[in-house]
Amino acid sequence: MSNINEKHISELRQQCLKEIEEATSLAELNTIKTKYLGRKGLIRQLFEELPNLSLKERREIGELLNRTVEEVENKLNQKLEEFKNVLIHKEHNFSKLELTLSGNKFYVGKIHPLNKVYYEIIQIFLNLGFSIEEGPEVEKEEYNFTLLNIPYDHPARDMQDTLYLDLKDFSEKLLLRTHTSPVQIRVMLSKKPPIKSIMPGRVYRHENLDPSHLFNFHQVEGLMVDRGVRLSDLKGVLTYFVKNMFGSDIESRFRQSYFPFTEPSLEMDIQCLVCKGKGCSVCKNSGFVEVLGCGMVHPQVLENVGIDSEAYTGFAFGLGVERIAMLKYRIDDIRLFYENDYRFITQF
Ligand code: PHE
Repeated sequence: MSNINEKHISELRQQCLKEIEEATSLAELNTIKTKYLGRKGLIRQLFEELPNLSLKERREIGELLNRTVEEVENKLNQKLEEFKNVLIHKEHNFSKLELTLSGNKFYVGKIHPLNKVYYEIIQIFLNLGFSIEEGPEVEKEEYNFTLLNIPYDHPARDMQDTLYLDLKDFSEKLLLRTHTSPVQIRVMLSKKPPIKSIMPGRVYRHENLDPSHLFNFHQVEGLMVDRGVRLSDLKGVLTYFVKNMFGSDIESRFRQSYFPFTEPSLEMDIQCLVCKGKGCSVCKNSGFVEVLGCGMVHPQVLENVGIDSEAYTGFAFGLGVERIAMLKYRIDDIRLFYENDYRFITQF
């Protein structure tokens, strides 16, 4: 009676798979492979008995044998892969991996809160069609003050407020610009209206450091000059700005003020973000906080730069970037922006 029946094949199959499963080395796997699938192997041999079977059995048993060989080969290959991985691990000393150790923390770079607000402000005005202009931080006294209608005896020119450069050989008096408004002068001297620009940049003042003062900070200046520019245009643009910056539900108001280079001059307030207008210590119970200065460009300033003040009018505004960031994120000390304390700058 031939060995070749389903029961025998199934026993061989099970025995073989078990041996493969329990193998502990590549050499063992090779031995098992030869034992069962080699030319004289226990499974391979059975193929030689097929011709002794009836046609029907031959087909059935033949198929079963083929399936069994395939299964055993797959299992062998799978085990082989496992051994290979173990070898790679050994080579790289992965066996010493301590998976319960806590890993190293990776610190991901972030945009500084001040830059974030800076870009946000600029983007709002780009959306309104303003272009960007820049000017130097070392500025002529003439542009920083004189042409802006700031007279010689104005206190802002005082050494107490302004950082002058001590350059004796230089014919012109130079200083670190105290605001971005001199860029208005530069733009109007180099371009003809219509002008519709913002001028972001760093400014300097002779200040003692305290929670609301730094000796350098950032401003974004705005200027629009054309025929028929009116105060309502200024109000519209700035109202759009604060609603985009602080939220569409934020109330704002304009108050009369004074700047030598604008007439009329205004200051813009927004509803206090801390108490939502109810009154608190931040807004000194007024419900409003100041955000920026603005006004209609003084006709004298237009004339100073050769623009006909009968034909053209304009508005201008200047806002402090640090101030906007402090209001938006309720930061109560301006010095935090420059200390680079990781605990602070990662909060935004
Ligand atoms: N330059 C003014 C300041 O620094 C702000 C300002 C700009 C006001 C333009 C009116 C118009 O305070």
